[in-house]
Amino acid sequence: MALSKQRPDDQPMKICADIQQLRTQLARWRSAGEQIALVPTMGNLHAGHLSLIETARAQADRVIVSVFVNPSQFGPGEDLDAYPRTPADDQAKLSTAGADLLYLPTQQAIYPFGVKAMTRVTVPALSALLCGASRPGHFDGVTSVVCRLFNIVQPDSAVFGQKDYQQLLLIQRMVTDLHLPIRILSAPIVRADDGLALSSRNQYLSDAERAQAPALYAALQQAGRDIVGGRGDFAALEAEGAARLLAAGMRPDYFAVRQAADLAPPRAGGESLVVLAAAYCGPARLIDNIVLKN
Ligand code: PAF
Repeated sequence: MALSKQRPDDQPMKICADIQQLRTQLARWRSAGEQIALVPTMGNLHAGHLSLIETARAQADRVIVSVFVNPSQFGPGEDLDAYPRTPADDQAKLSTAGADLLYLPTQQAIYPFGVKAMTRVTVPALSALLCGASRPGHFDGVTSVVCRLFNIVQPDSAVFGQKDYQQLLLIQRMVTDLHLPIRILSAPIVRADDGLALSSRNQYLSDAERAQAPALYAALQQAGRDIVGGRGDFAALEAEGAARLLAAGMRPDYFAVRQAADLAPPRAGGESLVVLAAAYCGPARLIDNIVLKN
């Protein structure tokens, strides 16, 4: 199927907040034999999200984008209230990008029994390490909301960004473990010209912090070059990576070399690796990674 920003029927983008209405529309498309892809987002859309929509459009006849700032994935003291919300801008961007339907669920629809009492979906093998270690409960919130969105929309495929590499693996694992009949697709990280991965949280950066932030990708690239060049002293590489972030004025949370398939420490045998890092740059917690294919 050719890449296109056109909706197949040239109709304006539909907007739905109600599950029944959404399902009625989806049933129409399905009965016409159309494939449906879901792109879950928290809004404040940028070029990274738009690339997810392009990936979805290349795979499916209909692209559904959900926008929901999910309270269950924010810990106490995190930026739930400050998280940028730009509904009018999101709507305009999605319409231009050729999304077929914008799904705007209410909190009541997603969590009918409330957030505290919600049924949780947990992927214990992957949820407590790296970002999960510094953000306890974060990934349970992610898998709990994504599972609900999958059940509501029942898409044929769903697209997630590689920037949130750990999130992507968790979702792939959840889908396999729960036998959800959904193909998980991923889209490459979209970067600014200086290498900084696009993220809604980049807006929290002052000019000075924004100038420091590309050091995150630079440190990952240096570690990547060292590994490809033959270094296997991963603990030392991790320490050097963290030191580079510190020297650039950031506060490293972790800098880790892991197996790309399961985020376990590197094993002998030459499997693909991923280098992941998280660091505070002023108030913003930035994450990034590079995958070293073998
Ligand atoms: O990556 C995100 O924006 C969120 O974690 C997601 C997948 C939309 C779940 O709220």
